[in-house]
Amino acid sequence: MIKIFSNKAELALFFCDELVKLVLKKNEIFLCLSGGSTPEIIYQYLSKNYNDKIDWRKVNLFWGDERCVSPDSEQSNYGMTKRHLLNFIDIPKKNVHPINGEDDTEKEVIRYSEEIKKIVPLKNDYPEFDLVMLGLGEDGHTASIFPDRMDVINSDKICEVTIQPLTMQKRITLTAKVFNNAEKIIFLVTGKSKASIIKKIVEERKKKLPAEHIRPHNGELQFFLDSDAALFLKRL
Ligand code: 6PG
Repeated sequence: MIKIFSNKAELALFFCDELVKLVLKKNEIFLCLSGGSTPEIIYQYLSKNYNDKIDWRKVNLFWGDERCVSPDSEQSNYGMTKRHLLNFIDIPKKNVHPINGEDDTEKEVIRYSEEIKKIVPLKNDYPEFDLVMLGLGEDGHTASIFPDRMDVINSDKICEVTIQPLTMQKRITLTAKVFNNAEKIIFLVTGKSKASIIKKIVEERKKKLPAEHIRPHNGELQFFLDSDAALFLKRL
């Protein structure tokens, strides 16, 4: 399902309201956060306008991927979430499960996989997130599953180590097996720079790019786009 919003602010507000509804209807939720810059406006809205609308004690936060850097780095997905969200909400520390990007990568992959399997309810032996937020790269990557690593789409592991092909930065990413086990996946895609790639993903669907292989087996797939990102889509 594709939802097109006039701008990022409208998209962010709608997402926040959807999250409020999700938290209200469950005793506990397991949320997998996206990396990148797109979610920043959502975190800012959640911090400013939704702190009293969400019982954060019910929310368990995980990350879909992380850059292998210190949490203080500008590059850190956890660091961005801390700066724009975690510093402002009353979420118990035990509910926040960052990927330790600064640690030995091979050890962290094992540690994080075990942590997820221990805490997130399993379905068919894989963690089942209530909601996975994902971004979309201009090359069709999502999380840190890049086009040169389509093996991560079929990996049986929970986490894999990848390399960002342009910057050669090491990453840790959850695999498609985990994402596709979720109850719901929402791609958050904004800006003119994403207009051509989103058309490839939602309309051309040649199945050559990582993001095209992200589709919950039994859950719901949604795309939240602003009008800039939706520029080239056929208007229904
Ligand atoms: C990351 C992300 C990555 C991101 C897309 C979109 O760690 O960078 O997981 O998949 O979501 O590259 O990034 P922007 O939101 O910055 O456009």
